[in-house]
Amino acid sequence: MKVLVVGSGGREHALGWKLRQSPQVKRVFVAPGNAGTAKEAENVPIAAEDIPQLVAFARQEGIDLTVVGPEAPLAAGIVDAFQAEGLRIFGPNKAAAELESSKVFCKRLLRDFKVPTPEFWTFDRPDDALRFVESRPEVPLVVKADGLAAGKGVVVCDSKDQALEAIRRIGIEKIFGQAGNQLVIEERLHGQELSVLAITDGRTILTLQPAQDHKPAYDGDQGPNTGGMGAYSPTPIIDDATLHWIEEHILVPTVHGMNCRGRPYRGVLYAGLMLTSQGPKVLEFNVRFGDPECQPLMMRLKGDLAEILLAATEGRLEALEPVDWDARAAVCVVMASRGYPGAFEKGHVIRGLDEAEQLPDVKVFHAGTAWKDSQIVTAGGRVLGVTALGETIPQAKLRAYSAVKLIRWEGAWCRKDIADKALPYLTGRAGVPRAPT
Ligand code: AMP
Ligand code: GLY
Repeated sequence: MKVLVVGSGGREHALGWKLRQSPQVKRVFVAPGNAGTAKEAENVPIAAEDIPQLVAFARQEGIDLTVVGPEAPLAAGIVDAFQAEGLRIFGPNKAAAELESSKVFCKRLLRDFKVPTPEFWTFDRPDDALRFVESRPEVPLVVKADGLAAGKGVVVCDSKDQALEAIRRIGIEKIFGQAGNQLVIEERLHGQELSVLAITDGRTILTLQPAQDHKPAYDGDQGPNTGGMGAYSPTPIIDDATLHWIEEHILVPTVHGMNCRGRPYRGVLYAGLMLTSQGPKVLEFNVRFGDPECQPLMMRLKGDLAEILLAATEGRLEALEPVDWDARAAVCVVMASRGYPGAFEKGHVIRGLDEAEQLPDVKVFHAGTAWKDSQIVTAGGRVLGVTALGETIPQAKLRAYSAVKLIRWEGAWCRKDIADKALPYLTGRAGVPRAPT
């Protein structure tokens, strides 16, 4: 089988690496890929958003399965375009991808199908949103652009003034363009955040192991939001009973709701959750694998990824053998360029990659890297996802950071505390919240 992975980040490197391990997969192409995927697969110089060129390539090359990494091509209808040509592709079509590309659509679906989510109000006109906030008591709110804004369209506010400012910037100044044509205002919740990803064919749901991301840039969850500075799996912040509760009360009604709306959902259903004192609530849905959550998940997945994704595409997940996971923990530490998540530097030579990869149970997934004059150089904000397995979370963490220490370039940095959120739960200092009854 020939497989095409669309995208160029750490997620796509991890997907390509895992797909290549499948006995049915003979060749893996990544469009456009990075220096890491160039070593382990075949890079194709087509941008992830260039749908006509991707369709043409898949036809010419006789690609049997295409797997889409990022949300933008899904929201733009890449699945519809491939299917119109009779090409097999894993992911939701454009209508189903609105679960991520329109927060207004997502929140209304959650409300109608009684999926727990923060209380919310939607607005077509920024003036109405301003009046609404002005009329409310001083309570913490979150202001969200309706559309895709590269993960930046959410402003968590401490005060009314901040909320008013966020509405003006998103809704009037349109700093995220059309994504700000509608606004969602939400009550602000507190608690641990959790990523539960599932693969579904619209009928059967295969829930993957829970993972935890680290979105703020700096240690202790300080600083600006990023695409994610590290992730680990499994996480002790929930137990099996709560995971089942999430399946039953969040994933099942969402898949059912999409069917009822005439938008059957196939692909990765990624629930971004907050564990509140009233139980897990959905902050957002994503319609693709998380980056960097995908990296520890692929390290731990023992099954045949190609077979799972094929089964999902063909609507036969129900008949699939149960998926096996490595019982060990995986920790992924993102190494970033100086300046990220703001304007960042590029073009620095990366050293120590081979030494790091020689450590046992370590895999360095590339994100923003490129080949230049037969050297690997930095080419993005998030550069590498250094991922390691260990018997325990602290051991996996230690191994990942031992590998990080061997890698260097001018201005490289990372968070030092990836997976530390697990520690209070491992030592019994924090209790695992019980599943709501
Ligand atoms: P989203 O893209 O909707 O997941 O939001 C991005 C980040 O904003 C989340 O990972 C949370 O850290 C934060 N966030 C979103 N909604 C809320 C909320 N209702 N209460 C508190 N934090 C939130
Ligand atoms: N890790 C967060 C995301 O992929 O959206």
